[in-house]
Amino acid sequence: MENIGLIGTGNMGGMLADVLLQQSSVPPENLYIYNRTNERNRDFQASYPLVHAAGSIKELLACTDLVFICVRPKQYGPLLNELKKYLTMEHILATITSPVLLEDLERLPARRVVRTVPTIANKTGTAPLLLTFGSHWTEKEKEVFRQWLTTFSDPVPVTDRTLRVSSDIISCGPAFMSYLLQCFIDAAAEETEIEYNDAEMLAEKMMTAYGRLLSEKHYSLPELCQKVNVPGGVTGEGLKVLSRFSGGMFEELIGRTHQKYEEDKEEMAVLFEEE
Ligand SMILES: NC(=O)c1ccc[n+]([C@@H]2O[C@H](COP(=O)([O-])OP(=O)(O)OC[C@H]3O[C@@H](n4cnc5c(N)ncnc54)[C@H](OP(=O)(O)O)[C@@H]3O)[C@@H](O)[C@H]2O)c1
Repeated sequence: MENIGLIGTGNMGGMLADVLLQQSSVPPENLYIYNRTNERNRDFQASYPLVHAAGSIKELLACTDLVFICVRPKQYGPLLNELKKYLTMEHILATITSPVLLEDLERLPARRVVRTVPTIANKTGTAPLLLTFGSHWTEKEKEVFRQWLTTFSDPVPVTDRTLRVSSDIISCGPAFMSYLLQCFIDAAAEETEIEYNDAEMLAEKMMTAYGRLLSEKHYSLPELCQKVNVPGGVTGEGLKVLSRFSGGMFEELIGRTHQKYEEDKEEMAVLFEEE
């Protein structure tokens, strides 16, 4: 991978560009960005003056050999025509969006297409990235690409059958867990004398240390629960409440994310049919 392009520098595209540079996965002079609104390009260049801001998708594709598409599913429409005109069979085309079918991207034309679904946690340079290759890569090409991904992430292969739920866990997971923690902090501040900021500070410290416990593999999740939940203690009382209120919650959550995923896939299929 010589020159790398990113189309869309919002939440994820901006974060990916950042982590690629921070982890030296690409030198700044080999990175090209293109965003619909030019202001984002300018903001990014203010931090990284050596990064190229392409003036168009045509220009970005002419200068790069690996391109990440980092726009939302509904924003693919206007892009497809440009990709169709200026992509070559030499490009590697990576989508970070789960409802885009790799078979559809392969018709653009493009030979090596790949899905790399990130998580906001990729900002750390160590988090998982869900990886699904299209069907026209050689094993050697896949290995070279996978190795490059390890310079800024922990690529995890997934099949289309488990893509959505895997993405629920790694991509939506940080939002789900933050929401639950936020509820915990709110309740602590409302129900007791602790100040909100103190509860927030303690919760953040707990999560950071908890992450380390897991990453250092001290305990499995059930072991952790068991260690904290000493017989006759207060944790058990709290766990009874969690058990009562969470019954069916994650089943419904997964049902809803999968329903939305099917709707998004149908919309994407229409976009590709229109092309
Ligand atoms: N957010 C997450 O945690 C997460 C995790 C995994 C996967 N994803 C996937 O990542 C994708 C992007 O999500 P996001 O949160 O980064 O969205 P976002 O913040 O809205 O970013 C989308 C960016 O794409 C730009 N854009 C739209 N159309 C364009 C075009 N034709 N040419 C160039 N740039 C264009 C937008 O430009 P403007 O500045 O003009 O709006 C915006 O900066 C989504 O498909 C999402 O499913 C997100």
